[in-house]
Amino acid sequence: MSSFENLRVVDNFYQTSLFFPMPTVVISTLCEDGTTTLGPYSLVQPYYVAGKDFYAMLLSCRNSSNTAQNILRNGKCAISFVDDKPKTFKECVKLSWPGDKPEDKMPGCAFRLEKSQIEEETGEARPMVLTDAIQAIECTWVRTLDNAQDDKPGELSGYEPPYHDFNGITSKFGAHFILRIDRILMKKKYHDAIINGVRAQDFPPLPVDYGYRDSKNFWFHRKRWMRAELLPMRKQSLDSVRYAADRADDKIRFTDDALETILNVPRVFLPVVLKGCVEWARENGVELVTAEHMKIINDKRSKEKKRK
Ligand SMILES: Cc1cc2nc3c(=O)[nH]c(=O)nc-3n(C[C@H](O)[C@H](O)[C@H](O)COP(=O)(O)O)c2cc1C
Repeated sequence: MSSFENLRVVDNFYQTSLFFPMPTVVISTLCEDGTTTLGPYSLVQPYYVAGKDFYAMLLSCRNSSNTAQNILRNGKCAISFVDDKPKTFKECVKLSWPGDKPEDKMPGCAFRLEKSQIEEETGEARPMVLTDAIQAIECTWVRTLDNAQDDKPGELSGYEPPYHDFNGITSKFGAHFILRIDRILMKKKYHDAIINGVRAQDFPPLPVDYGYRDSKNFWFHRKRWMRAELLPMRKQSLDSVRYAADRADDKIRFTDDALETILNVPRVFLPVVLKGCVEWARENGVELVTAEHMKIINDKRSKEKKRK
């Protein structure tokens, strides 16, 4: 017998039928007059995380919002992650009244804004970024995905069909935006923690948001103490790695000490790792890959990752 109750799945199920932990971000977009407006959002998540030509976020929002209308118009936004202070969350909630125009809410808004780094460097018009943010992502809507390039702003009382499946106008009142990541901005303290390796005390104070509930309140909690859970290392045997290595190429071979360096690579990733090594060996005219070569390959890979 099940140990659960069955709950009805209704509109906005993530906040009406579930306890769904979400981030709190403030999205800035560019209005027609070139000013920046802000809206608080939670339904944002990484979308393309690897293996594509670009990285992307996904935003799910009301299509009549200032944010959606501005993205439809000029494609640019910045997603700023705010801290967990109650007064910051209060400021977010203040910006959330549906139907408020930028001229209604921006004059009384306490968040400080600064020019986008990309705009500073290229002159391209971009929405401003929250100075008070811990981190921010500057984005451009990929309007060609799902053929959404012809979706236009201007319809504030509901869009008529046809609707897209996952990008652009996706229902009468809804929109989804796949947002290419143009740049990640991070305050120095947290930037340094990522570069040097994080400890529990280095994580930023980000709130966890449970959405609008009981037709009255937005619920959130502050950051809690971070705990680390060690992934138990599973080492493969040298024989099993040798088996895969001998089949990676008909000419290029690996010494035992070269293979020792990749014993802890999970089996599913081994072919990709070996392929990378073989490519490097071919480019460098190496026929027997040693531990020394593996170190060079590894350094090259981490440098490339950093550059990205
Ligand atoms: C913390 C918080 C999170 C929110 N998340 C979302 C969301 O993910 N999607 C959405 O459509 N509305 C969300 N809202 C409601 C929007 O903020 C609201 O529609 C607002 O009017 C949007 O502002 P804008 O029209 O200036 O874009 C959220 C509100 C708050 C306070």
